[in-house]
Amino acid sequence: MRIDILTLFPNMFEGVFNESIIKRAIEEKKVEINIINFRDYTKDPHNKVDDTPYGGGAGMVLTCQPIFDCVESIRTENSKVILLTPAGIPYKQKMAYELSNEKHLIIICGHYEGFDERITTICDYEISIGDYVLTGGEIPAMVLVDSITRLLPGVINEESHREDSFKKDVMNDIYLLDYPTYTKPADFRGLKVPEVLISGHHENIRKFRYEESLKRTKERRPDLLEVKK
Ligand code: ADE
Repeated sequence: MRIDILTLFPNMFEGVFNESIIKRAIEEKKVEINIINFRDYTKDPHNKVDDTPYGGGAGMVLTCQPIFDCVESIRTENSKVILLTPAGIPYKQKMAYELSNEKHLIIICGHYEGFDERITTICDYEISIGDYVLTGGEIPAMVLVDSITRLLPGVINEESHREDSFKKDVMNDIYLLDYPTYTKPADFRGLKVPEVLISGHHENIRKFRYEESLKRTKERRPDLLEVKK
C-alpha cells in the first residue's frame, strides 16, 4: 500500500514513522509513506496557502488551489482521498479494515480554522478520529496510518489482530472489547490470576474470555452491542 500525507508540518511525522512496527513495515516495503508539504504547490507569490473566510469570522482558511493541484498530481484511479476534520464521520476499526484493502490513500491534514468547503469535492471520505478538536489533522493522520498499517498482510501476525479489542463476535455480528489478559507471576502482592486461566482447560478458557469480553462491553461500551455493524 502507498500512503501520501499532505501536510504543512512534515517534521511532525518523523518520530512516529521511525519507530517500532511502522518503521519495520516501511523497511520491509509493506507500506510506502510519503509526506508531502502542500505549500510546495501554491501559486501564490508569497507562498500563502490560506486566506480569510468569506462572510467574516476568526482565523484563516486553507485555500483550494494548493490542495487541488497537489492531489491532482498524485491521484490515480486506485486512489482514495481522505480529509481529516472534526466534522467528519467517526473513525472505527471497521473503517480501518476497509481502508487496509486499498492500494493508495491520500490523506489531507486540515489546519488553522478550517478549509475551503470546495476541497471536499475531491475527497472520498471526511473522517474524524473523535469528538474533540485538535490543532490539525497531523495526529489524526498518524492514527489512521498506524491503525491501517498494522492490518496489512505480514506486518503483525494475523493471530494478534484476531485477538484485538474490537474483535468481531462473528456469531452475533457485533464487535466486542478485548478480555483481560495476565502474565506471570500467578500471584502478585495477593492479586491473583483467575484460576481458570491456569487450569489448562481450553474450552473453559475460551468461554471465560468470551464472557469477560461481553461483560466488559456491556459495562463500558453498551453502544457496541446495540449497533449492528
Ligand atoms: N482535526 C482537528 N481535530 C480533528 C479530529 N478530532 N479528527 C480529525 N481531524 C481533526
